[in-house]
Amino acid sequence: MYPIERVEALNPEVTRMVVRAPEIAKKIKPGQFIMLRIDEHGERIPLTMNDCDAQAGTVTIVFQAVGATTMRLANMKAGDALLDFVGPLGNPTELAGARRACVIGGGLGTAIAYPQAKWLYEQGCEVDVITGFRNADLILFEDEINASSTRQIVMTDDGSNGNKGLVTQALQQRIDEGANYDLVLAVGPVIMMKFVAATTKPYGIKTLVSMNPLMIDGTGMCGGCRVKVGDEYLHACVDGPDFDGHLVDFDDAMRRGVMYRSFESAARDAAAG
Ligand code: NAD
Ligand code: FES
Repeated sequence: MYPIERVEALNPEVTRMVVRAPEIAKKIKPGQFIMLRIDEHGERIPLTMNDCDAQAGTVTIVFQAVGATTMRLANMKAGDALLDFVGPLGNPTELAGARRACVIGGGLGTAIAYPQAKWLYEQGCEVDVITGFRNADLILFEDEINASSTRQIVMTDDGSNGNKGLVTQALQQRIDEGANYDLVLAVGPVIMMKFVAATTKPYGIKTLVSMNPLMIDGTGMCGGCRVKVGDEYLHACVDGPDFDGHLVDFDDAMRRGVMYRSFESAARDAAAG
């Protein structure tokens, strides 16, 4: 069993959970994920690492209570335990060598963008972080990112933080100002990653996107997490989750995402009783 050490609501939709898992905490790197199962009746869900502390033996995950399992997870307390917590899975994000990076987090994706920005910043890379949220109440990790970036730009769709616009508008502005990035990394809604990749493509800036399709086994066996990259279908769980944003077929990824939505909402209704 994997004891839960801390649970904290970060905003009305998002929860941070610190789980004791010493073996994973020693090995996990930014971009990698774990698969957890609450109990023997639960489904396995993938969650990408938000933070880890090898000395304390803990791994931090951040999730939005949108599905049946994440709704149950959000109701768990410190002192409860998870049946399975398996990882690290997937490949670490290829961050080495970047000198001027822009890390982009859309909504909950910011929870995963943060450790990547932190790692780059600690290696001496100049790091701009651009995050986007629907409104100011949903802003995540502002203090943590301030401490781990050269520059932070927080956008809101409704302008309630005084900075109205999408992440892509801020990215275009920084490129126009001569930011001269050698790496752009985007984590968030598929539509956001699609338009981030479209923004950087004319400039030939290397752009990695973190794909988050439905995953069942997390080991390359079920085929649920296939992503069309160039001419081939790759598995996000073993070949990714990061891919070259200029090669990913985002429209195909969105079509596949919609296919599974009705199953997820039926499970959520069942869990809500
Ligand atoms: P959201 O829908 O509120 O969008 C967040 C931000 O993305 C917006 O504020 C905006 O700046 C930007 N954005 C949205 N549409 C855009 C467009 N068309 N063009 C340019 N920018 C756009 O996000 P949310 O509701 O918090 O959802 C978070 C999403 O992140 C979910 O879809 C989730 O699946 C995904 N996610 C992905 C990962 C991953 O590993 N890839 C991890 C966690 C969450
Ligand atoms: Fe099953 Fe990737 S989750 S193949």
